[in-house]
Amino acid sequence: MSKTKTAYFCSNCGAQSAKWNGQCTACGSWNTLTEEVIQKSSPKGFPNSTIQGAKPQLLSSITCDNNFRIDMHNGELNRVLGGGLVPGSLILLGGEPGIGKSTLLLQVALQLSETTILYISGEESSQQLKIRADRIGTQNDQLYILSETVIQNILPHIEEIQPGIIIVDSIQTITTQLIESSAGSISQIRETTNELQQLAKSTNIPIFLIGHITKDGTIAGPKILEHIVDTVLQFEGDRNYGYRIVRSVKNRFGSTSELGIFEMTAGGLREVSNPSEILISQRDDSISGVAIAATIEGLRPLLIETQALVSTAVYGTPQRSATGFDLRRLNMLLAVLEKRCGFKLGTKDVFLNIAGGIRVDDPANDLSIVASILSSGEDVSIDSKDCFAAEVGLSGEIRPVVRIDQRIAEAEKMGFKRIFVSRYNLKGLSQDKLKIKIIPLGRIEDMIPYLFQ
Ligand code: TYD
Ligand code: MG
Repeated sequence: MSKTKTAYFCSNCGAQSAKWNGQCTACGSWNTLTEEVIQKSSPKGFPNSTIQGAKPQLLSSITCDNNFRIDMHNGELNRVLGGGLVPGSLILLGGEPGIGKSTLLLQVALQLSETTILYISGEESSQQLKIRADRIGTQNDQLYILSETVIQNILPHIEEIQPGIIIVDSIQTITTQLIESSAGSISQIRETTNELQQLAKSTNIPIFLIGHITKDGTIAGPKILEHIVDTVLQFEGDRNYGYRIVRSVKNRFGSTSELGIFEMTAGGLREVSNPSEILISQRDDSISGVAIAATIEGLRPLLIETQALVSTAVYGTPQRSATGFDLRRLNMLLAVLEKRCGFKLGTKDVFLNIAGGIRVDDPANDLSIVASILSSGEDVSIDSKDCFAAEVGLSGEIRPVVRIDQRIAEAEKMGFKRIFVSRYNLKGLSQDKLKIKIIPLGRIEDMIPYLFQ
């Protein structure tokens, strides 16, 4: 009776279609439909047998201890998870290859010495994991490693070991026997994630899934993977720098604006609990083209260094390049400086860099970027005790930014003497108790006398 049924799935959005098309009708991308084997569909309509499975319950009659969270012994990871790991949750950790996903979870597993942990590795052999664990240096006698990829073979081990936490490295290597398509295909990923979700919910064991990401930065596999899991964490950072950011993109049990900061060292990932200290380079002599922005990443205020280099263009067309910052926004700021403030930058090459290899999107960095461009253009250094927090508008006006009091507090804590803000941000602020001097600005020109006395 059972006949193999196939359907076509879009590898971009996961939409299902009965026949092959050149273009996906759901998301419009070309040549993304692939044929996959799907299961026999279940019978339609109400079964006339008695009720099976779960029964509906009144919400008011359900009790739960919603404060219970597992402490990960890792402050930064606890923070992105919203205060610890929720039992029975399914967490997807995505990131580029080599960014440190396996390192982070192995390290956490090694530190949780009071919990039994099962690390299922489809990517690396047990020996490779042992070498990595030796490098990290911590010991955990309760950590089991399983090099297996078929979910039906994994389940009996889970039943036997009864782990407190399961780590799956990676979801793209796990397969289920229920489906014939190869590992990493859309239907395999969807089915295995579904099975793991059911396992997590029925046993209350939290499961971490490591997920690969595609070239354009999204988690490989259907978008519905992100719908199935409870939490999606994104691991970011420039591989050439040591700093790594774990961002929560989706979280059913906490805020998505949280982020954790780590540094990759020779002995694993180190938590960075005071990021401002490391994102500002320690310098004694003043150099032109460097300004400090009081930014907010997620919910955390941090001070970062923006560096600009303005030089006369050697070739006809001036070059503009930005690392860690949106190039279009840089071009806009340059146009504002040229048109509204009369700085001749049209014939100059402009290079912009955000120190530490992190990417920032906060509009409050605009003023610091403008200051570093002006400083490099005029070759006059900015006082190393000055910092900036304001957005720059198209007419050259200095616009207010959110959570200014937090930015000022962080700047004061880090020993800055002056902070440049928008004058529209002054409401509710008082200079009285502050050691740092607040300098309100209306337009970019107002800043010039302070910077270049
Ligand atoms: P890995 O965790 O395997 O990344 P992913 O699982 O995301 O693909 O590897 C991260 C990189 O970090 C790898 O290139 C080696 C490096 N590394 C260190 O610098 N220090 C360490 O202690 C470890 C374990 C890895
Ligand atoms: Mg890995």
